[in-house]
Amino acid sequence: MKIAIIGCGLIGKKRAAALKERGQLILAADIDSTRAESLAREYGAQATTDWQAAAAAPEADMIIVATTHDQLAKITLAAVNAGKHVLLEKPGAMNPSELEPVKAAAKQNNVFVHVGFNHRFHPAMQKARELIDQGILGPLYYIRGRYGHGGRVGYETEWRAHPQVSGGGELLDQGAHLIDLSQWYFGEAFTDIHGWCATYFWDMPVEDNAFLTLRTASGKIAQLQATWTEWKNMFSLEITGRDAKLHIEGLGGSYGTERLAYYQMKPEMGPPDTTIFEYPGTDLSWDLEFKRFLAEIEQSHPSEPGLQSTQNVLSAIETIYQQNNVPWLRKQEDSP
Ligand SMILES: NC(=O)c1ccc[n+]([C@@H]2O[C@H](COP(=O)([O-])OP(=O)(O)OC[C@H]3O[C@@H](n4cnc5c(N)ncnc54)[C@H](O)[C@@H]3O)[C@@H](O)[C@H]2O)c1
Repeated sequence: MKIAIIGCGLIGKKRAAALKERGQLILAADIDSTRAESLAREYGAQATTDWQAAAAAPEADMIIVATTHDQLAKITLAAVNAGKHVLLEKPGAMNPSELEPVKAAAKQNNVFVHVGFNHRFHPAMQKARELIDQGILGPLYYIRGRYGHGGRVGYETEWRAHPQVSGGGELLDQGAHLIDLSQWYFGEAFTDIHGWCATYFWDMPVEDNAFLTLRTASGKIAQLQATWTEWKNMFSLEITGRDAKLHIEGLGGSYGTERLAYYQMKPEMGPPDTTIFEYPGTDLSWDLEFKRFLAEIEQSHPSEPGLQSTQNVLSAIETIYQQNNVPWLRKQEDSP
């Protein structure tokens, strides 16, 4: 696979590092020429500031799109129309309707779009998936998820704080991962959606906190919080079923060692049998996700997470933004 990366920031670099021997970076594109050149130099690739040329580069088989949120859907559409497979960074777009033409174009051009919700590929999440699929939890009841960090000096001036570029705040940023994971484990999209957005600390027009209660048609409920006021970075996901409970904590690095606690209820109830799985070491989710995408392409297997499940995530977020009457959506509606 010959690959072009569009958007050579933090995640563009992570995606490049995850190609390993499985893909060859041939082109690095960024509107910031220094970033494009720096990534290109590292991998012996060409550099460009022209994303349109990169999206249609004749020698590229796959395009990785890792830009700011306002550019994700537009660039992906151009790449798909040029007949390229696309690894599209989460959250995939600013809202679900932006992905509608991408879905149609991918079908028409017979190419795959895999959306980079890489958290699914963390080993603790994969282990949880395996245990759930084995039926060990019985029917699932509910999920409690919390995800957050504390920003950094000047965070309120970065692109995530500007709704025209980001499409929203922490709900769209880390909240999207929590919604994606919850609907993946439940195997159902959410139909009842309630949420509150708040801006407590940061001087920015987007939310720095979101609190959600989401329910599927069959009655499974996810209670989630995403926050940019978590002064000690944290990730926690509890999945409870009739017979057992799973608790995933940490994502490695500043989020703490990744671990999965498996609590098996005993017939006599009382304290459960406890098994702990720990995953120290480097975050391999990027490698595993890329490997999975290659396999999906090779086997013509629909990408997962793909465009439909991403639209479901974005629809839940859009509903909550509407419930909270966020100013950036109001402006769009008011404009002629
Ligand atoms: N999966 C994860 O856990 C995770 C974590 C962080 C960020 N992300 C996602 O990755 C994406 C990028 O985030 P980031 O943290 O790397 O941001 P970043 O600011 O570090 O990088 C974004 C880059 O895109 C470039 N860019 C913007 N518009 C462009 C265009 N039209 N053509 C070419 N380049 C363009 C910018 O110049 C910048 O270098 C976002 O969608 C973000 O939500 C995912």
